[in-house]
Amino acid sequence: MDQAQNGLGQTWQNPLVGAVIVKNGQILAKGYHHRFGDKHAEIDAISHLKNEKAAIGATLYVTLEPCRHQGKTPPCVDKIIELGFKRVVVGQIDPNPLVAGKSVERMKQCDIQVTNLDNSKSMNLAYNFYYQNSRPLITLKYAMSLDGKINQRNGERTRLTGNDTFQDTQKLRLMNQAILIGENTLKVDNPQLTVRCNPTFPPLRIVLIRNAQKLDLQQAIFQSKGPIYILTSYENTQVLPENVHVLVDEAWTPKKIIHFLAQQGIQSLLIEGGSHIHANFIKSGLVDNLVVYIAPKLIGGTGLPSVWGQEIFEMMNFKIKQIVQLGADVKISARRVY
Ligand SMILES: NC(=O)c1ccc[n+]([C@@H]2O[C@H](COP(=O)([O-])OP(=O)(O)OC[C@H]3O[C@@H](n4cnc5c(N)ncnc54)[C@H](OP(=O)(O)O)[C@@H]3O)[C@@H](O)[C@H]2O)c1
Repeated sequence: MDQAQNGLGQTWQNPLVGAVIVKNGQILAKGYHHRFGDKHAEIDAISHLKNEKAAIGATLYVTLEPCRHQGKTPPCVDKIIELGFKRVVVGQIDPNPLVAGKSVERMKQCDIQVTNLDNSKSMNLAYNFYYQNSRPLITLKYAMSLDGKINQRNGERTRLTGNDTFQDTQKLRLMNQAILIGENTLKVDNPQLTVRCNPTFPPLRIVLIRNAQKLDLQQAIFQSKGPIYILTSYENTQVLPENVHVLVDEAWTPKKIIHFLAQQGIQSLLIEGGSHIHANFIKSGLVDNLVVYIAPKLIGGTGLPSVWGQEIFEMMNFKIKQIVQLGADVKISARRVY
């Protein structure tokens, strides 16, 4: 699993995968999936063997069931069988229907001992979720004061949290394949929505704007590279930069947005405000995770609550997964429970 983490932020819609080859109690080679389109972890580990013959009788540990289909690279399972591995230990079955236990069966038929430890799913939560639910895993993230406000006054940007939180939010963006904001957040905060470490596959940026005709192309987001989707109800007639795509629908409901993203193969979505967009998504019942940064500040009788504008009929329950201190702020991560 440590090997797999080396690919963080580079594997796009592929999972993080690590592999180790062991023989007679000794590690012969290690590998991982470096980036989307590159060779898979087990093939990377094999490429680090001094001699491929060393694989005969060896054990391959790999955090995900090897693939059996021709994708951007040839089927890994064929190579494993060809090289004469004696045993293969997988961290989990691949939920992708093209694999889904079929490689394990194939290896068993070829007299390879196969063990599934079922202990690595947490490393690829969104990947697993996507294949199980046919939609992206949705995380709603915001920073708020101790009295639950996300800004000091409506229409005003308020920097609530410190630098440690900023660094953490960058990691959160890196772990998601798409980021979404609402119209007022674009106007008021003027964000770029980029990941500052310049990953090979930055998240898609999505903005909900009622009337795309009102787009202000001077805003920071339009000065940066990488795809931007504008979801709007009215066509735009302005000349737009090549990376900006306008998609028109009478009413972009959360359900339609998620359906559209699922069709694009997007496995994870981070919703970054503001208050009304949060309320819309919460009402739709589609929020799976919450990440809340709490700044030790009181705003008082003004400002927007973190979620505002849409009634829900029943309180939703979340399980707190993690509480960490980030400088002066506190981060709470929670997962929806049903
Ligand atoms: N502290 C934080 O973490 C944080 C994060 C983000 C933003 N903020 C703050 O939040 C404030 C903005 O929040 P906000 O609640 O006013 O605005 P918002 O949630 O950013 O945007 C809401 C607006 O989006 C429009 N919209 C366009 N298409 C839509 C669609 N398909 N579905 C739903 N809405 C759509 C809505 O238009 P209609 O009016 O036509 O429905 C509505 O006016 C800013 O002050 C910003 O600084 C804080």
